[in-house]
Order: sequence, then structure tokens, then C-alpha cells
Amino acid sequence: MIITTARKPNRALEEWAGEIARTHSIPFVPRANRSLESLLEEDQVVLVASRERLSCHTAGGELFYHPNMAAVRLHLLRQGVEDKFLNTCGLVAGDSFLDCTAGLCADSLVAKCRVGEGGRVLALEKSLPIFLVMAQGLKKNGPVRFRGPARGIELVHGDFRSLLPELPPASFDVVYFDPMFEAPVLQASSLLPLRPLAHEEPLTPADIALAARVARKKVVVKERSFFDFSRLGLTPAGKSNRKTAYGVLAKGEG
Ligand SMILES: C[S@@+](CC[C@H](N)C(=O)[O-])C[C@H]1O[C@@H](n2cnc3c(N)ncnc32)[C@H](O)[C@@H]1O
Repeated sequence: MIITTARKPNRALEEWAGEIARTHSIPFVPRANRSLESLLEEDQVVLVASRERLSCHTAGGELFYHPNMAAVRLHLLRQGVEDKFLNTCGLVAGDSFLDCTAGLCADSLVAKCRVGEGGRVLALEKSLPIFLVMAQGLKKNGPVRFRGPARGIELVHGDFRSLLPELPPASFDVVYFDPMFEAPVLQASSLLPLRPLAHEEPLTPADIALAARVARKKVVVKERSFFDFSRLGLTPAGKSNRKTAYGVLAKGEG
């Protein structure tokens, strides 16, 4: 991975890109009017700091933060359409939610809007480029109406397999996983630029055990509708649509 700026950068942009480079030990490559194609020949993953945002380019396209998917779901919720994710998680105002697979942070944003200022959303992301793009975006980008909840999400770079054991027992109401599907939903175009950057290891029963220790009410997993949840010791919570489904491990209350 390398980092550069947009073409014709000003001093502030170069300083910002330089700071990200130093903090995360990513080589800084001055843009010098080079095309993205030429930069992608130098490295398969190119972070670009522009006046608008931090984005990440790969052969799969440009990854940048946008709350579009969450915005559609929140709009439908206001119209009275149920959100299967929220229903399955059973989140209410004031709850704490641990998202072990942050990705584009759409589920985290929907969760944060539900739990409100008095609730907590902690999201973990193992991929450094995805983490950097989302951390910047949550802070600075997207429509103003989502800035409050977006900034309220605590996004942490790391592997849930090493971070979960560090958390106190029963410290989150709901612990959630939405791993990359082995057989991707082809229409899920919002995930296309994410895929080349994402970690893809399948969940194991040991992961569910790590989560169960931290969960007060339940562990929830999103998977393909044909997934055998019993492999992970989970109970299917019904299909959310023809393509995806949720599995649950209930922990007493909730
Ligand atoms: C399908 S995406 C999640 C999408 C997310 N639910 C959303 O609403 O945008 C899965 C994400 O989990 C991340 N991931 C995979 N394994 C991980 C791990 N062990 N620890 C933390 N993040 C992981 C991937 O890099 C990817 O960004």
C-alpha cells in the first residue's frame, strides 16, 4: 500500500497525507501529476488524500465512505418498514453494540441511530486501508444529518480475534459479525470496491465462543440464506430476504 494526494495538492493536503503515512508506516509517493493507472502499477493499493476525502484505489475500483446503504434503511424505518438487522439484534436506546466486522460501517450507523447518544457502538476493522478510509469518512464525510451518529461510532483498527479477549466479560449487549461471504451476493455492488481490501477468513465456533463471553444479550451473525448456522452453534433467526439470513446465540436477558 502507498499513499499520495490528489493532483495539484496544497500544503495542507500534503501534510495530511504525510501524517497518515508516518503514523501507519505507509510509503508516501508525491503525486507529481501522475495518473492513477501509473500509481497502481507501482502498488496494488493506493490511498489518495483529496480535499473532499480519503479514498482507496485498487483494480476493483475506488473505496470511499458513503452512508447511502444505511440512509436507505433508516429512511425505510421511518416509513414503518422493519429492519431485519435491528429486529434480530433487538437493539433499544441506550444499548451497547460491538460490530466485529465494520466494513463500510452501514450496520454500525444503523445501530448507532437506534441506540442513540446514551448507547455505545464499537466497530472493529482488520484491514488497514478500509479502517483508514472509514475512520476519516465517519468523522468528516456524508450528509450533515448523519454526522452526529457517524462521529459517535468508535472505530478501532484490529482483528476481532485479538481484540475480543481484551474486553471485559458481558461488556456489550450485542456482539455482531457480518463476515465476507464465501459466495458473494453478486448484486451487492456497494461491497465491490471493499472486496479486494477485505479480510475473508470464515467464522469458526471458537470465534463465537470469544463473542459469547463478551455478549450480555446475544451474538448475531449475518450469512447467506443457505448457510448452516448449526455449524457455529447458532439458531437461524429466519431469512431477511432471499439472499441473506441471521443466526443467533441468545445469552439470557433480551
Ligand atoms: C461484509 S464486510 C462488513 C460490512 C458491514 N456490516 C457494513 O454494514 O458495511 C466484512 C468486513 O469485516 C472485516 N473483517 C474480516 N475479518 C475480520 C477480523 N478478523 N477482524 C476485524 N475485521 C474483519 C473485513 O475486512 C470487511 O471489511
